[in-house]
Amino acid sequence: MTGMKRQKIAVLTGAGISAESGLKTFRDSGGLWEGYDVMEVASIDGWYRNKERVLEFYNIRRKQAWQAQPNAGHRALVDLEQAFDVVVITQNVDNLHEKAGSSQVVHLHGELSKVKSSIDESYVIDIADGQISLGDTCPKGGQLRPDVVWFGEMVPMMEVAAQHVEECDILLIIGTSLMVYPAAGLAHQTRPGTKIYVVDPSSPEIFGLTDVEFITETAAKGTPALVKRLMNMKA
Ligand code: APR
Repeated sequence: MTGMKRQKIAVLTGAGISAESGLKTFRDSGGLWEGYDVMEVASIDGWYRNKERVLEFYNIRRKQAWQAQPNAGHRALVDLEQAFDVVVITQNVDNLHEKAGSSQVVHLHGELSKVKSSIDESYVIDIADGQISLGDTCPKGGQLRPDVVWFGEMVPMMEVAAQHVEECDILLIIGTSLMVYPAAGLAHQTRPGTKIYVVDPSSPEIFGLTDVEFITETAAKGTPALVKRLMNMKA
């Protein structure tokens, strides 16, 4: 039918949706953090302690992420746009949602392919799969750093994300342990009665919300099946 307002679906994704694309999650066994101390490579204090180590860590991650391909989970979210107004809110710093073709993606924790000046917030550049080193600076002389949000930093996109979640009719949560705030609190921004679906092989805990359906499958398997169900409900 034309002229009818489409239902809005917000999708909160985490590292789990990219696991089957070959990118490791943070908190699963064998996860990325195991070889590195989180607080050394992903906190603002770690940056001040050893910029070279942090730059190297992100140079490696940037190359890996650039080579990765979206999987059936990312692609299913693109199909969902045929019937719904879809916004993807991702905690991931890879660009697999964009690569798959999602048209509205909010990056809560920044993007690996971008770097910014550490003294001038407005200076952000796209470096694709490039590398940055100590001594690479913005025109004002500030050291360049990854445009990602570290522990101890503000999450500038949080308000935009919360607004989308408040407006949505259905919320999907895919591949996130919901252990990192403020992102983990987004489910609680839904209006009463909003249906929530969680796709994750190890059901993360969501306190205080009742209308939650857990689909204990991987993203590449569970998301296409869920998308099919939602599209059929619509038809
Ligand atoms: N499909 C779906 N989910 C999966 C899969 C898969 N194939 N494999 C693992 N998972 C799930 C795990 O069960 C877990 O719940 O993905 C989740 C991964 O959780 P985390 O590793 O904690 O990743 P995430 O929630 O994205 O972390 C949030 O923490 O370190 C910060 O900034 C970083 O954005 C990151 C944030």
